[in-house]
Amino acid sequence: MQLSSDDWFDILAFHQEAGVDVALDDMPVDRFALSAQEAPRQQEPQPRGGPAVRAAPMATPGLPPAPSRPAASPARAAPLPQPAPHPPEEAELAAREAVQAATSLDELRAIMEAFDGCALKRTASRLVFADGNPLARIMLVGEAPGREEDQQGLPFVGRAGRLLDLMLASIGLDRTSVYIANVVPWRPPGNRTPSPQETTICLPFIRRQIELVNPDILVCLGGQSAQALLSTREGITRLRGRFMDYDTGTRTIRAIATFHPAYLLRTPVGKRLAWQDMLAIEAALPPKVQ
Ligand code: URA
Repeated sequence: MQLSSDDWFDILAFHQEAGVDVALDDMPVDRFALSAQEAPRQQEPQPRGGPAVRAAPMATPGLPPAPSRPAASPARAAPLPQPAPHPPEEAELAAREAVQAATSLDELRAIMEAFDGCALKRTASRLVFADGNPLARIMLVGEAPGREEDQQGLPFVGRAGRLLDLMLASIGLDRTSVYIANVVPWRPPGNRTPSPQETTICLPFIRRQIELVNPDILVCLGGQSAQALLSTREGITRLRGRFMDYDTGTRTIRAIATFHPAYLLRTPVGKRLAWQDMLAIEAALPPKVQ
């Protein structure tokens, strides 16, 4: 059947409305059918010498390569699924071990680029490491990159980021005077909230990043960031606006949580409290050395 450009437009609109905003492959893959085929196959005894395998997936420092899948039969055109991810506990341990080697932000970035233990890396376009001034006294940490951040490789560059810039400007700060990163540095598909496992796997990275930047004040943007970094299950409405201690591993710094700018875009009434938080942050900044 020949499809007109209007048909293609309708198909795309249908997918967009259904929340599909990322293409993983050129061809659709029925993963339900694939996993149904593979379940019995995994129980079969392996032929001597093992099954034919594709090139081994990239190893994560500290992790053995993820198990490879059997090679496709030549008749099957559909691309093979990605290798099974590492179990979360193994991946988290590998991340924790890997970051110990990082003595600078550049080294940490390289370690994160090479890390293969978080499945989000496969669907994201790139690592979103950080923006701003690594010598800043104030560091802000969001949840995870969105679509624009994924495209540009920088945190908070979309609508929420523009509001964050305005919030910073209200207390005389900008991206030359703050450092910005995320708890999870790869975009979750469809901008969904990172799962607890994904967050746990990525935590050693942001913890090391905070330790290396060594700010005087840490600002958690939103409940996800606050809960992950401040090890609490309290909601953002109760957490926000009060200073707490954050142990970087080498010293204790002051940490505060405020509403996520994306939440403020949806709930402008929260801006009044966010403004109070910004004033508290301004008051807590050590005086500038002239
Ligand atoms: N939301 C986040 O938490 N981080 C970003 O970088 C962008 C949006």
